[in-house]
Amino acid sequence: MNITLSVIKADVGGYVGHSESHPDLLAKADEWLTRAKREKLLVDYRVTKCGDDLQLIMTHQNGVDNEKIHKLAWDTFVDCTEVARKLKLHGVGQDLLADAFSGNVKGMGPGVAEMEFVEREAETVIIFMADKTSSGAWNLPLYKMFADPFNTIGLVIAENMHDGFSFEVHDIKEHRKINFNAPDEIYDLLVFIGAPSRFMVKAVYHRKTKEIAATSSTQRLALIAGRYVGKDDPVCIVRSQGQFPAVGEVLEPFTLPFLVEGWMRGSHHGPLMPVATEDSTPTRFDGPPRVIALGFQLSGGKLVGPRDMFADKSFDNARKQANDVADFMRAHGPFEPHRLPLEEMEYTTMPQVMEKLEGRFVHLD
Ligand code: F6R
Ligand code: MG
Ligand code: MG
Repeated sequence: MNITLSVIKADVGGYVGHSESHPDLLAKADEWLTRAKREKLLVDYRVTKCGDDLQLIMTHQNGVDNEKIHKLAWDTFVDCTEVARKLKLHGVGQDLLADAFSGNVKGMGPGVAEMEFVEREAETVIIFMADKTSSGAWNLPLYKMFADPFNTIGLVIAENMHDGFSFEVHDIKEHRKINFNAPDEIYDLLVFIGAPSRFMVKAVYHRKTKEIAATSSTQRLALIAGRYVGKDDPVCIVRSQGQFPAVGEVLEPFTLPFLVEGWMRGSHHGPLMPVATEDSTPTRFDGPPRVIALGFQLSGGKLVGPRDMFADKSFDNARKQANDVADFMRAHGPFEPHRLPLEEMEYTTMPQVMEKLEGRFVHLD
């Protein structure tokens, strides 16, 4: 049975500030998706949130990039924007960059991760959703899951994973893509994906079966809009168990609260803190950045779940470490490397300050 799993998200208004989603927005989105399920456009769905981002998790049989599914998501976000407007939430319609829908939400502001597959005997999927960070945040964990034997012992001792995985990497500045085979080409792969503001892992495939293993949203809002409109707050779908990494191998990379771009005004480096959905409330200096993980079993496209995977106590140390790293980074105030390098900052006053002071600069000999 061919199933498409689509995760489409947008920030259409925050409560309070950029720290949370108002329950009325989730309720409105639920109305739209209930109707779509009744009309059989969707097999199943869940509406959730990560911080100020509204998340639509949908299963259907229409394939990826389907116009009807994308229009459903767009119309839902537009209607939720009206709810946000009435409540005078903050940043109303923030991620809706176009006036009208034109066939596909990609390039219009919302983030999209979708994959189509034949449902296995037991289809385990984990959906990661992040707030206050950018699309490149998935590079490090995807590398660890699918290419690092210190994370994923299955690469070494499981027959069905031993041939490795291939990585589809997008160069979002030059708008082109390239594939790398792991483990053979990991040194070349890391040259690129170690620079996550430009090179992003879009998808991962099982080399032997060519099955899709993972896919992420790689839209960069700032590049689409040509100006700062908020961080991407990306999503990522990972298939698990059997020929893919086990659930524990998929979650293990997040025991390290690694540094990502984002946080306050999208202009800082900070630790990515794994949290339960209800704790995705970035409040300290608008952060630190958060990631949630919802796990499902699929049954004929029905979403059995979610289990809130990072609610587990074994992620307490990662959260403690994230808070310690947050204190350490914050102590740097407006200095790099807490503050992002000039070209990556989402807010800057440099052009105005430079213009004002141009006449006071004196050339050095
Ligand atoms: C970061 C983020 C927030 C805002 C900050 C200022 O992604 O969303 O840190 O940048 O709260 O927000 P505005 O400019 O909307 O007042
Ligand atoms: Mg926001
Ligand atoms: Mg957000």
